[in-house]
Amino acid sequence: MHLDDLPDGGARGFDVPGLRCKVIVVRRGDQVFGWRDLCPHYAGGTPMAWKRDAYLNGAGTHIACHAHGAWFDMETGACVQGPCLGKRLTRVPLRVDETGTVSTLP
Ligand code: FES
Repeated sequence: MHLDDLPDGGARGFDVPGLRCKVIVVRRGDQVFGWRDLCPHYAGGTPMAWKRDAYLNGAGTHIACHAHGAWFDMETGACVQGPCLGKRLTRVPLRVDETGTVSTLP
């Protein structure tokens, strides 16, 4: 994926070889944050979007799980509202190279 594929403030899900879930990539300016698309509300995790790439709450301020309404901080992955307070998303380390290409780190 390229940074230009994701508008500032947006989020998209991507398939990554070797992962059984999508990776949510959130962009804030020139920074990107990667999270496994697995809500920590239930053991093992649950996909969070109700439709393709619908990973944010209505105001676009948090990552949202549409199953039971949990909200997560985009930069830390911490649950800030909902049934899994005290838990957090699993980070996927990302790298943006000099051309703007975004890739996962091993
Ligand atoms: S599965 Fe995400 S809030 Fe319940």
